[in-house]
Amino acid sequence: MTTQQEINNLKNELGAVIAAHFYQRDAVVAIADITGDSLELARKSQESDKNIIIFCGVHFMGQSVKILAPQKRVFMPKMACCSMARMIDSGYFDESIALLQSYGIPKERILPITYINSNAEVKAKVGAMDGFVCTSSNAAKILAHARKEGKVIFFLPDRCLGQNLAIQNALQHATLGVDSPEKVRAADIVCYNGFCSVHQLFTTSDVDFYRQKYPDIVIAVHPECDPSVCAKADFVGSTSQIIKFVQSLPLAQKVAVGTEFNLVNRLRKENTFVLSSTLPQCPTMNETTLDDVLQALRACKNGESSNEVFLDESVRQLAFAALDKMFRI
Ligand code: 13P
Ligand code: SF4
Repeated sequence: MTTQQEINNLKNELGAVIAAHFYQRDAVVAIADITGDSLELARKSQESDKNIIIFCGVHFMGQSVKILAPQKRVFMPKMACCSMARMIDSGYFDESIALLQSYGIPKERILPITYINSNAEVKAKVGAMDGFVCTSSNAAKILAHARKEGKVIFFLPDRCLGQNLAIQNALQHATLGVDSPEKVRAADIVCYNGFCSVHQLFTTSDVDFYRQKYPDIVIAVHPECDPSVCAKADFVGSTSQIIKFVQSLPLAQKVAVGTEFNLVNRLRKENTFVLSSTLPQCPTMNETTLDDVLQALRACKNGESSNEVFLDESVRQLAFAALDKMFRI
């Protein structure tokens, strides 16, 4: 029996569903019942009639499913972590709020927005301050809504997404721990100094290179790229928005895409380039193999809870509050 057949048999026997993020290896995406960006995966897993989710992605994504659907059992074939999400924890969150207070910004005037790429404890801290979760596809909408409260926005953990949002909305931004207290005090959006190690690989010289080589090329990038790169692009959008954008282009239109390699490589065969001279693969997303999926199903069948996602209920409820505020908008 092939690994694929064994996965299918076990999956059917257990009544499980396999979810895979777009950045996963092709072999994993091919056997998945559900694919999507991080938000789509959380929603589709929540709506699935199956109670066992085998989640192929990074840890915060598996946690998002558990936050939304605590009655489901979520197993991660690899406990892979998003390096950006790992740049902040609840301790760093508290220290950041304390630093803002030491700059003369009272806690009651701070409204946190966390990008979905953060762990459940950080989302819970944000929920406890009546803040929001956002994704790269709805960040502008969430920001517009949050701004109505008239508070200073503390955007975490991705400084690039925060800076891009500020620039797009003609708002002042500052980065905590980098900019002076004066600049932080004058900012509408204060960004935490986190970043995506993969999207940092795209540079303005990559854009210049492709524009010089193919003058009519279209450049599409993810908002986790540096603002200098986004400013030179023709299209800036989330994972799903990039897929839709590229699919809408005529086949003859050359396009260079600044996001994760596995996704770009699967987009379309012709006239599509990865906007980088390096291989922008997310190392942790790439860790999950078909064999890991099989082992996770076997462990589940044997009643083992290794690699199962568990959350403290009080953390889950506060994290849910921040996610729910996003869904309500
Ligand atoms: P999406 O929310 O678009 O899936 O992006 C997640 C991510 O990790 C991008 O690098
Ligand atoms: Fe995290 Fe970047 Fe990997 Fe996305 S590509 S999961 S933000 S490290």
